[in-house]
Amino acid sequence: MKIILATGNKGKLREFTQMCDTEVIAFSEILGTLDIVEDADTFKGNALIKARTIYEKLESEDYIVISDDSGISVPLLGGVPGIYSARYAGEGASDKENLYKLVEAVKEQGVEKTKAYYTAAIAIVSKYGEYVVHGWMHGDVLSTTKGEKGFGYDPMFVPAGYDLTLGELNDDVKKSISHRAKALVLAKPIIKMMQR
Ligand code: IMP
Repeated sequence: MKIILATGNKGKLREFTQMCDTEVIAFSEILGTLDIVEDADTFKGNALIKARTIYEKLESEDYIVISDDSGISVPLLGGVPGIYSARYAGEGASDKENLYKLVEAVKEQGVEKTKAYYTAAIAIVSKYGEYVVHGWMHGDVLSTTKGEKGFGYDPMFVPAGYDLTLGELNDDVKKSISHRAKALVLAKPIIKMMQR
C-alpha cells in the first residue's frame, strides 16, 4: 500500500520524508491542488478532515493517507496562535508574516522570552479505519528571531534543554525531539499494521 501525505506544506513534507523509512508521496502529485476547509476546533479534528478528504478523493483502497495538523501555543498570550498557526497573520499569510506577528505579540508583553509548545496531531486513514496520535515539544519563544533553519516559527523557538533556536540548531536535533517526530513514533506501528 502506498503512503500519501495530505500536506502541501514544504517544511512538513521535507521533515516527513526524512523521518519515514518508506517512500511517501505528496497528495498533490496525484490530485493536484485542493482547497480543504479546516474548520474543526482541535488539531485532531483538522488532521482528520485533511486525511479523510484526501482518502475519499483518491477513490482507492490501495492508499494509506497521513496528515499532520500542527501549530504553536503561547500560554502567556492565552494559547494563541494554536490551531490558527498557519493563518495567524490572516488568511493566506506567509510563514514569515505569521512568525513576525508572534514576535511582535511577545515583545508587546515586555518579555524577552516566554513558555511555548508545539503540538502535532497525525491522522492515519485507510481501509482499516481512522487513527489519530499526538506529539508535543516544549520550550520558549523569544521576542526576536535567530537563524534560518527549519520553517514557520522555528527561528523564535528554543526547545527545552537547549540555548539555541530551531532556526540555529542542526536539522538532526529537530528530527529527534520535535512534536512531529514524537507523533510519528506512535504512528509508525499503526502504518506498519496497515501494510501487512
Ligand atoms: P497546518 O498546515 O494547518 O497544520 O499549519 C501548521 C502551521 O503551524 C505551519 O504553517 C507553521 O506555521 C506552524 N508549524 C507547525 N509545525 C511547525 C514546526 O515544526 N516548525 C515551525 N512551525 C510549525
